[in-house]
Amino acid sequence: MSAAIFRRELVQDEPALICVVAGDDAAPEVVWPTVEVLQRLVPELRFVRGSSGREAEERYGAAFPQETQELIDRAVCTLFGASGGPSRPVLWYLRWGKDTRVNIRPVRWQPGYRSPMREPEHFDFVIVRDNLEGMYPPREGDLAELAALASSRTWWQPPPVDRQGAYAVRICTDEQMAYVAQAACELALERKAQGYPGRVTLGAKYSIQPRTDGRFREIVRETVRRYGELEYQEFLIDDLARRMVAVPESLDVVVLSNEHGDILADMAAGCIGGLGLAPSGCYGPAYAYFEPVHGSAPDLAGKGVINPTAMLLSGAMLLDYLGYGEQARRLREAVAEVYRRGQVLPPDQGGRATTEEFVAAVGQLL
Ligand code: NAD
Ligand code: IPM
Ligand code: MN
Repeated sequence: MSAAIFRRELVQDEPALICVVAGDDAAPEVVWPTVEVLQRLVPELRFVRGSSGREAEERYGAAFPQETQELIDRAVCTLFGASGGPSRPVLWYLRWGKDTRVNIRPVRWQPGYRSPMREPEHFDFVIVRDNLEGMYPPREGDLAELAALASSRTWWQPPPVDRQGAYAVRICTDEQMAYVAQAACELALERKAQGYPGRVTLGAKYSIQPRTDGRFREIVRETVRRYGELEYQEFLIDDLARRMVAVPESLDVVVLSNEHGDILADMAAGCIGGLGLAPSGCYGPAYAYFEPVHGSAPDLAGKGVINPTAMLLSGAMLLDYLGYGEQARRLREAVAEVYRRGQVLPPDQGGRATTEEFVAAVGQLL
């Protein structure tokens, strides 16, 4: 693996096909305007619409019809809105079916973002999250089943198998942890070339879970050591959560397990001004898909005011992936300029603009 993980070589003369799965609740309200913007920026891109959720149930009799899976497979990557439940099988397929192993979640404040922090300009780091393992996908069962597990008797606290209750299993393979570690290093190198410190930070509970988080720590340490130009630091996950709020300027590339990354990405988004601002991209050896950090925002559905910034910036990550770096830069710059001017902002950022008005303001600056 090299930095190629964040890029896709397009075959000459073949227009890139991108599958769009808008998802549930308010998600389509940010997806479709984003597709319009991307199409304007790169006219040769071909977007195909993959149906999912309730709409697909009505049309095809399934929330994740075969037709949609085929479109995802034919496409070079997918743009995904969010699942509010009905579209979850699609999300599962985009992660485990397409083997998208790392989730990149940039956290960067810019002028105009309504942050609750005193010095929000210090927020400029990237979370690299394990996208496949850890406590995902759910592997759960009855406590009684653990009686058959020989090793459970040697655990620090043997499981109370005679009580009623449940357990959950966390699986971590060396291969996946090494992939995530290497992706973090490649990203840190790319960022170092842009002037960042080239610093990889691990957050984990290695003190308490030596076989899983302890092994993760060993693998990340070892991987960073092989990249001579990178710095390494590690913190217990609870202390890292504090540092993310108190000294965000000490962070550059932050490597986290699936569940830690999920939680801290929302927290970090809250620090820069909210979920409406946080984009993400999920990358594997042969596929990538792009989705905002936020969910389907059911409380905003149908109101026309959901903030499309996270989705637009996820679209910029998609353009980077396909080699349209200049168009991605123009899109990011247009979004930044709308925030700098501060005249057309959605309600979560203290303004009164609708989703449509915000996207139109971005479009005028492209
Ligand atoms: P959420 O991210 O949908 O919403 C949390 C809060 O943030 C809400 O108040 C919402 O209005 C606000 N918010 C979210 N996105 C916003 C935006 N773009 N602009 C302005 N405000 C925004 O999380 P939730 O309410 O915990 O979950 C709702 C549903 O989404 C659940 O079904 C959950 O499982 C799902 N979910 C899906 C994904 C995904 O598909 N990747 C991610 C997270 C949550
Ligand atoms: C996310 C979401 C998902 C996750 C849910 C919907 C399963 O919170 O993408 O951040 O936990 O990964
Ligand atoms: Mn989440």
